[in-house]
Amino acid sequence: MIVRLLTKFTYITLSLSFLLSGCNQTKDIKAAVVSARKEASDIGITILNKGGSAFDAMIATDLALTVCFPNAGNISGGGFLVYRTASGEVGSLDYREKAPLNAFEKMYLDENGDVIPEKSTLGGLAVGVPGTVAGLAEIHSKFGTLPWEDLVKPAIDLAINGYIVTEKQERSFRNKKDDFIRINGENTFYAQDFKAGDTVKNIALAETLKRISKYGVKGFYEGPVAESLVNRVRQAGGIITHEDLIKYKPVWRKPLNFKYKNLNIFSMGPPSSGGVCLGQILKMIEPYNIGQYYHNSEKAIQLIVEAERRSYSDRSKHLGDPDFSKVHYNQLISNKYLNNRMNSFSFDLASQSKDIQAGKIPWTESEETTHYSILDQEGNAIAVTTTLNGSYGSKVFVEDGGYFLNNEMDDFSIKPGFANMFGLIGSEVNSIKPEKRMLSSMTPTIVMKDNKLYMILGTPGGSTIITSVLQTILNVYEFGMDIQSAINAPRFHHQWLPEKIEFENGVFDEVSMKKLQEKGYDIKQDYIRVIGRVDAILLSKNGVITTGADPRGDDKASHLYD
Ligand code: DON
Repeated sequence: MIVRLLTKFTYITLSLSFLLSGCNQTKDIKAAVVSARKEASDIGITILNKGGSAFDAMIATDLALTVCFPNAGNISGGGFLVYRTASGEVGSLDYREKAPLNAFEKMYLDENGDVIPEKSTLGGLAVGVPGTVAGLAEIHSKFGTLPWEDLVKPAIDLAINGYIVTEKQERSFRNKKDDFIRINGENTFYAQDFKAGDTVKNIALAETLKRISKYGVKGFYEGPVAESLVNRVRQAGGIITHEDLIKYKPVWRKPLNFKYKNLNIFSMGPPSSGGVCLGQILKMIEPYNIGQYYHNSEKAIQLIVEAERRSYSDRSKHLGDPDFSKVHYNQLISNKYLNNRMNSFSFDLASQSKDIQAGKIPWTESEETTHYSILDQEGNAIAVTTTLNGSYGSKVFVEDGGYFLNNEMDDFSIKPGFANMFGLIGSEVNSIKPEKRMLSSMTPTIVMKDNKLYMILGTPGGSTIITSVLQTILNVYEFGMDIQSAINAPRFHHQWLPEKIEFENGVFDEVSMKKLQEKGYDIKQDYIRVIGRVDAILLSKNGVITTGADPRGDDKASHLYD
């Protein structure tokens, strides 16, 4: 109890000192953009300042990330938008990549049925049909208020004038240099040994963006840009055709909606697993009133881990593209089903993943990223997570177009029971089929509290996306942290299989760790890693806006003041 009180006290002290230090967290913020890069956040704010809406700012921010954050920002990947307009309309757009028309279930297996290493992650065959440009154009046609060209222009200027390499970025380029050369040859653009402080001018990308500016969707999916994309994919061993590009369409979907105490949460539904799993985990935790335990204590960790174990096992069996198999999400997030799932939970002993199978549900007939959050001065809220999948996607670089192609095909279950690059296991429901969307974990989320906008958040991190969003919400709502402390706080992650709990430095004190190990939890020092990069906006009940950008990356919040 003393520990718990001390912990809460520490966070309250932290919050107060944070407010008093005046770190941009003043009452005066009237709009905000929080993204992976300062340049992109600033461009979003410039658009808002010109009278553009959050949707306009989204398009400009997204394209700016393509230029200055090439490991995940993209015109050649896909993503999800969850929004709530100032008037209370809620929706989501799915512009996730699709499998090419020539894709087939066993395309990554050899004649013995074994997975061919790297085929689904590196090179042309890993590339899914991109959805980003179609998604952005669709958003503009429904919600745009400023001309399309004005929203593309800042990214063109950034590509021409250049962006400054950060230290983290220098490391990232260095780590991937061998792969860049292996896939694209010695003279490839991003093998130039860019150092922190260097300015990167990407003229080829500026030219691509100019065509997108002039011709909209057709500037990417038809004409010379499409021609060079299809050729590059083919050279790199892939199968995307012009027909694939022309047929690509984003889909407006109903967001996944559920309640947790007095929170009303909207997140992404299938083909993302994000909303369903976030809903399942929160609802499994709800009856235990987790706020009674101190943050990252033994019991709080157990509760979250056991709910995660059960949810991720459901993910592997029941979730996939809803256009191909019926996904019964209402049942999956129903209280009755979830209470039943937690029947086998006890604080005394760890459950074992081998004993936890996906729940039996009568209808089972038929599995590097970046997030940004925007709030405009009118109160329109936007949560977007977009990705090339792995860092720099398939590493295939379209040299004359200035951009990397995704490796999203690895998010399919390429063989039942075979783990993808995030260790996730899938089944038939997420098998490869032509034009099918691969299952995602992306969780762009908007939270309402007592009918008022409360939080806009999301993160990259593959399978850890769901658990990072979950912990950020709990840190604020249950453990009383301000948004920046909630993001800074160390995270942990469990996903059913493998059995282990991964954690960041400082999650567990030694006593709790020992107790958890004694109860049968698989925790080891070498499971330490960095988990997630959450970018979020929080509104108090009086409408005071605060922002949090994840210090794990170069993420930055930009603001518009009264
Ligand atoms: O859609 C998904 O779940 C993955 N492709 C996301 C990949 C990701 O977050 C990588 N970033 N660290």
